[in-house]
Amino acid sequence: MNRPALEGLRLNVPAYVKHTRLVEWVAEIAALTEAAEVYWCDGSEAEAQRLIDQLVAAGTLMKLNEARRPGSYLARSDPADVARVEDRTYICTERQEDAGPTNNWVAPAEMRARLQTGDQALFRGAMRGRTMYVVPFSMGPLGSHISHIGVELTDSPYVAVSMRVMTHMGRGALEVLGDNGTFVPCVHTVGAPLVDSQGRGQPDVPWPCNKTKYIVHYPATREIWSYGSGYGGNALLGKKCFALRIASTMGREQGWLAEHMLILGVTSPEGRKFHVAAAFPSACGKTNFSMLVPPAGFEGWKVTTIGDDIAWIKPHADGRLYAINPEAGYFGVAPGTNDHTNPNCMDSLKSNVIFTNVALTDDGDVWWEGMTDEPPAHLIDWQGRDWTPAIAKANPEANGKPRFAAHPNARFTVAATMNPVLDPQWDDPEGVPIDAFIFGGRRSTTVPLVTEARSWAEGVYMAATMGSETTAAQAGAQGIVRRDPFAMLPFAGYNMSDYFQHWLDLGARLEGAGAKLPRIYCVNWFRKGADGKFAWPGYGENMRVLDWIVGRVEGRAGGAENVFGTSPRFEDLCWQGMSFSPEQFASVIGIDRAAWHEELKLHDELFKQLAHRLPAQLPATKALIEQRLAV
Ligand code: GTP
Ligand code: SPV
Ligand code: MN
Repeated sequence: MNRPALEGLRLNVPAYVKHTRLVEWVAEIAALTEAAEVYWCDGSEAEAQRLIDQLVAAGTLMKLNEARRPGSYLARSDPADVARVEDRTYICTERQEDAGPTNNWVAPAEMRARLQTGDQALFRGAMRGRTMYVVPFSMGPLGSHISHIGVELTDSPYVAVSMRVMTHMGRGALEVLGDNGTFVPCVHTVGAPLVDSQGRGQPDVPWPCNKTKYIVHYPATREIWSYGSGYGGNALLGKKCFALRIASTMGREQGWLAEHMLILGVTSPEGRKFHVAAAFPSACGKTNFSMLVPPAGFEGWKVTTIGDDIAWIKPHADGRLYAINPEAGYFGVAPGTNDHTNPNCMDSLKSNVIFTNVALTDDGDVWWEGMTDEPPAHLIDWQGRDWTPAIAKANPEANGKPRFAAHPNARFTVAATMNPVLDPQWDDPEGVPIDAFIFGGRRSTTVPLVTEARSWAEGVYMAATMGSETTAAQAGAQGIVRRDPFAMLPFAGYNMSDYFQHWLDLGARLEGAGAKLPRIYCVNWFRKGADGKFAWPGYGENMRVLDWIVGRVEGRAGGAENVFGTSPRFEDLCWQGMSFSPEQFASVIGIDRAAWHEELKLHDELFKQLAHRLPAQLPATKALIEQRLAV
């Protein structure tokens, strides 16, 4: 430990902090990073406003028009720091095979040398000239038996302010921790010290970050170290790093699941209520589905949101699986959101929102692609440049589309309590009992609108082999079909084959004990026609599929068995209030055998990659599908 730096630094520990180990760790990280100051967040409103004012003064946040968007702010990130960096994300287990072939891996000792202990270690002096914020937070309701506490040390006040929206952040979390509780230590730096090792200062920039990025997890010690990015899941460490990567390893040890799933409640006009958890990859429709507005023909039906991104799912004494949302806010995709596609989301964004990388209108409000049919005549784009339709056309993006006013991964950060259809049980520590799991990728071809698995094992196969086109949520090329098992490819904290086994084991254990397992479905909202347009209208109309799923659970909905499971025939869906012909339906539900022969080759590739420790049940399920496909 760097003693002189530590001795020179006041830790400013508030009187209510009684946790010696926590204070020692804060001191250790402050010494390592040579932070100029330490500030403990209490999570109060006054504190949040102070930090926001400071961010406005620094040019990181801009206050939006108070009349149009009260209490709301706009941040513009560095153009090179706009999404999760999957190729810089590491799972550092002692043995590489425990991270598995789908995760980046470096041995813990080697990674610690790079980040903490080596002469050139990246965290050494990384916070020089900056304040280190101590951000205590609870994933899940404060003090509940299902919750877990984390403490993030960060030199980004934008992160501190965002964590207050996204988690139960502040003094309450420290009170739960008491003088000896366990917490997940999360260290985050933007990697842009304001003072160099010679003591020379340099001015700050609105969005400090570093070209070098590391998002590192040590599952054995449940530690998270993040370097170089200030954006989203790279920096808000409670979300993907803790609630998925670290929590999935906890769940494996303890017999539960941490999943990239929305959770919704759906209530019939008669008051029968069902709960559904759905895993779609990043930017593939979770937030939208969780806030769905039932369309014409579904009067009296209600969809309510429990969570929009992450579910922690545990078996209860009654044998059923119960899900909670460990988050307290939404970090959601802005582009494509509008009053028709997702009016509940638009309502959630009326006030008290932090927008990142959306466009600014001339009257101090926000705009993004898809918000209105016609773009405004003039905007300031997400990089602070003038934007008009003519400028956009003259400066197309790499994909040939007119220059974006908002970045395709532009996001909003807003408290769950702003959601008008928030489920009354969204924060219930007992969680909600799950009736159905849905898995769905973004596939312009091949995968039908909806298929029900005939068994838990067949459902696990569907989820494990799911493919999806990449989106702007991750840095790198978009629109490339890749396998994204369970929508967890970037988020599983351990070997993917072991993860499949964990799902199979949990199902077998519950079924063996006589429990009724949730049914499993595979959906695809994204098939395209020959004209390149989506063949299924999606959004609110997805209610028709949700209704069929609920109908199957209730035993009232019909269907026809096919190679992969059971799908609805035209007459099995409710078409009231929508005109969609049997031919159109055939185009979204049909199975193209030639395409599926090709698709199964991709399943093969995945299974080859994951061959070590792959559960035998998966290739066995595939063999049955192949037999049926051959007939
Ligand atoms: P993450 O926050 O990255 O995990 O994303 P998400 O899964 O919550 O996705 P979200 O609901 O934010 O939707 C991402 C994009 O897909 C948005 O641009 C939506 O407008 C679009 N989208 C969502 N649902 C549908 C749908 O049913 N059909 C079509 N065509 N697009 C959809
Ligand atoms: C995702 O990419 O799945 C997100 C956004 O939900 S982030 O928090 O950046 O991971
Ligand atoms: Mn997500």
